Amino acid sequence: MDQIIVTGNGALSGQIPIAGAKNACLTLMPATLLSEEPLTLTNAPRLSDIQTMTALLQSLGAEVTSLQDGQVIAMSSHAIDNHTAHYDIVRKMRASILVLGPMLAREGHAVVSLPGGCAIGARPVDLHLKALEAMGAELELKDGYVHACAPGGLKGGVVAFPFVSVGATENALMAATLAKGTTVLKNAAKEPEIVDLAQCLRKMGAQIDGEGTETITIQGVDRLHGATHPVVTDRIELGTYMLAPAIAGGEVELVGGRRDLVEAFCQKLEATGVHINETDAGLKVSRNGNGIQAVDVTTEPFPGFPTDLQAQMMALLCTADGVSVLEEQIFENRFMHAPELMRMGAQIDVHGGTATVTGVPRLKGAPVMATDLRASVSLILAGLAAEGETVVSRVYHLDRGYEHVVGKLKGVGALIERVRET
Ligand code: UD1
Repeated sequence: MDQIIVTGNGALSGQIPIAGAKNACLTLMPATLLSEEPLTLTNAPRLSDIQTMTALLQSLGAEVTSLQDGQVIAMSSHAIDNHTAHYDIVRKMRASILVLGPMLAREGHAVVSLPGGCAIGARPVDLHLKALEAMGAELELKDGYVHACAPGGLKGGVVAFPFVSVGATENALMAATLAKGTTVLKNAAKEPEIVDLAQCLRKMGAQIDGEGTETITIQGVDRLHGATHPVVTDRIELGTYMLAPAIAGGEVELVGGRRDLVEAFCQKLEATGVHINETDAGLKVSRNGNGIQAVDVTTEPFPGFPTDLQAQMMALLCTADGVSVLEEQIFENRFMHAPELMRMGAQIDVHGGTATVTGVPRLKGAPVMATDLRASVSLILAGLAAEGETVVSRVYHLDRGYEHVVGKLKGVGALIERVRET
């Protein structure tokens, strides 16, 4: 297994290109199952989660070809010849459940294993299932699999989500495009990845209104056709690399960055004393010599502060002047990075869903362990400004969501290497 070794090396400077969004790509790819015609995605990120989704779609009979070094994904689901998404693939990635809605909508039946994914809480899929039931699906849970059928096809219905779920909104949205009649999704997720999915589905011929608001209305159509669609910018990769100069000092331009994707995060970052400027190429972040002020952060569904940036923000606040309170409202058990940051000298108290961080002048490098995707990158960020060497193990989590992390950070002057564990 590989390790990443980071040595605090002072201020960063230069540019980091931001890739297409992992989470958008993982919902755009299953949309291929809705049509017999080809769907091509451009600006795709090169990540192991994308390879997992590729393997899953191929196992169902889709043709998936990676072009231009993985930045283009050409898919064709002329025929779906297997209707079971098996546990051995699905367990690797929770987003695998997103094949359920499209398969059911097009084929009238599907069997999908219950998913695994990051160990950040229970993460059930009950909202996905209830949404499909509201569209007439009949579901049975048997031996760890969801057996779903809709003998006469899915029918439009009203789906009122009791709380916001990104994945359940995506599954319901895809399924509703081919359901008979009108579907209304109430309390829908408003994340940019949902907007991106709706835009792609519309290019495929779907009739959708209201994406990006809490009510999405879908008028079902008989069939969808092919399309080509660019994956939206990865706002989580963007926010992560915005934190690099915030933590290490210096000035870095995030090429392709868009403030509207990370507005709530930008406001918190600016409150710590970091400067953000919009440029022709993207966003420029600078911290020149000044200290970091403590801020309180509460994670919320979009447009609030994203849970997927909480661990990275905590890394910054570890060296802030004062006490910061971070409240995690989306997932239970999402502070597993805290004990690892404490190994580096951070002062953090975790009580339930609240972490209180008392800033220290400087962190110290230490051997630490990645526990999930976002936690692992927070340890790398912390290492950028720590004294001495930080050795992060279990970096396979990182490969799920960050392409070329070592190359991107090296490109702005960080001392970082990936090595084989000895
Ligand atoms: C997506 C993102 C993930 C991000 C999360 C919240 C992808 C591939 N992943 O995950 O990176 O952290 O949104 O922004 O896009 N829940 C239920 N029942 C359900 C579904 C969800 O109880 O059926 C709960 C979850 O356990 C969680 C909350 O709802 O506590 C929100 O989860 P959800 O928005 O569904 O997250 P994902 O779509 O899994």
